[in-house]
Amino acid sequence: MKTSVIGAGYVGLTTAACLAQIGHAVFCSESDTDKLSKLQAGIMPVFEPHLENVIALARKSGRLTFGATEEAIEGGQAIFICVGTPPLGNGDADLSAIEGVARAIAKKASGYRLVIEKSTVPVQTGVQLRKHLSVHSNRGLDCDVASNPEFLREGSAVEDFLHPDRIVVGVESGRAAKLLQEIYQPIINQTFACPVHSRCPSRTPPRFLLTDTNSSELIKHASNSFLAMKISFINMVANLCEMVGADVTKVAEGMGLDPRIGPAFLNPGIGFGGFCFPKDVQAFIRIAEKSACDFGLLREVEKINQHRISHFVSKVREELWVMRGKKIALWGLAFKPNTDDVRFAPSIALGRSLLDEGALVSAYDPQATEKARAALPDVHYCADPYEAAQNADAILIATEWEEFQQIDWDRLKKLMERPLIVDGRNMLDPADLTAHGFHYISIGRPTALSRKSDPANDDLQPSAGPKPILQDFPA
Ligand code: UGA
Repeated sequence: MKTSVIGAGYVGLTTAACLAQIGHAVFCSESDTDKLSKLQAGIMPVFEPHLENVIALARKSGRLTFGATEEAIEGGQAIFICVGTPPLGNGDADLSAIEGVARAIAKKASGYRLVIEKSTVPVQTGVQLRKHLSVHSNRGLDCDVASNPEFLREGSAVEDFLHPDRIVVGVESGRAAKLLQEIYQPIINQTFACPVHSRCPSRTPPRFLLTDTNSSELIKHASNSFLAMKISFINMVANLCEMVGADVTKVAEGMGLDPRIGPAFLNPGIGFGGFCFPKDVQAFIRIAEKSACDFGLLREVEKINQHRISHFVSKVREELWVMRGKKIALWGLAFKPNTDDVRFAPSIALGRSLLDEGALVSAYDPQATEKARAALPDVHYCADPYEAAQNADAILIATEWEEFQQIDWDRLKKLMERPLIVDGRNMLDPADLTAHGFHYISIGRPTALSRKSDPANDDLQPSAGPKPILQDFPA
């Protein structure tokens, strides 16, 4: 089927590349001309495992083309809208890019089009889209609007697209349902050449869940908010573990064995970040507010997340006493491993907090250094973890890159001023690090010098505490 994807961000690029991989002819447009030229020249604007390869294969086969929005609108029978919906100052999602695309489709397209919202949007956006496509149409556009939220994790987006648990489709007509089923049939049947695995792991085929557009839109926000809630929940449990001398790893394991709870998203740390959870939780709170539903539960989720950095820094301060002039190695800048994305990354808020206290910060990340520079210009960026640790008083781990598991601990220890590691992701084994002579502190796990009191727990009032991470970045 001739398919267009408008917007070549993480979601748009993955969608375009994977739809081409499963056999569709895809035209992907991007309004940022610099980015578009790079894509046309075969240069990747983002780091995402497998994506470069899938794009290269798709372009070579002639099934994927990059170009202007007008062409995408003219050529595609099904048009996926994958433009950004960044947060506005009040927490609402900014829908101006979506509206712009709707206007362009209404003015340029004639005949039938299936317009699919894949960007994360507030409930009832489909209703507005339908209305505005009709209001601005001047060339006899006949269209259906569908919602098809993405559940792609950065770092495994290609795999998530091709091997999903579910494909959620919100439609208002049988025609739209049929077309979307046709588009996704190779994924539903798992009949495509997989670019990720030589032999795909056997799993149950994805559920193709058909619903109305409002419910589909809500599924997306509710899912991300629920996952964020799980993370904040376990982070509070971790705080409690620190106070009473329990081990959060064991608590999470014990909880996760209950299939009603499940083990996923129970890893405590320095908080959730990225361009999805922080903005989606905020947007969901606003959506509820506008419908006179007080989603106070999610405000707590946000509040707990916002306190993760001050809680973590208090652990460091307790060890280093005076932060001013101390050399601190920051390992990891991306908001999670296998991506170069630093948007709303806890590491950035952590870096700022350390610099504010007068520490000298040397940072290393395998992928995200370039993107972090603008957000943290006063940090010294290093080529490897050892360089960052040279003469350091402490290493702080902010992202659980696998590379940090492969460290030569004896070599590292000799380089450091003081062998202190504060692990914000619980990625290392306390016994192993202690055996190598490090003083190792992590989250919610007992250490020999476990703390008796925690000032960061004293005040969880909304008006107190640090600035929300979300406000640190322009939209
Ligand atoms: C998230 C969702 O997982 C995807 O399903 C969704 O499609 C996507 O947002 C989106 O809306 O586009 P993503 O932001 O890429 O994906 O990353 P996650 O793997 O969900 O992690 C989000 C944050 O939570 C990261 O900062 C991560 O470090 C943190 N996290 C995750 C924890 O602190 N603990 C955990 O147990 C899991």
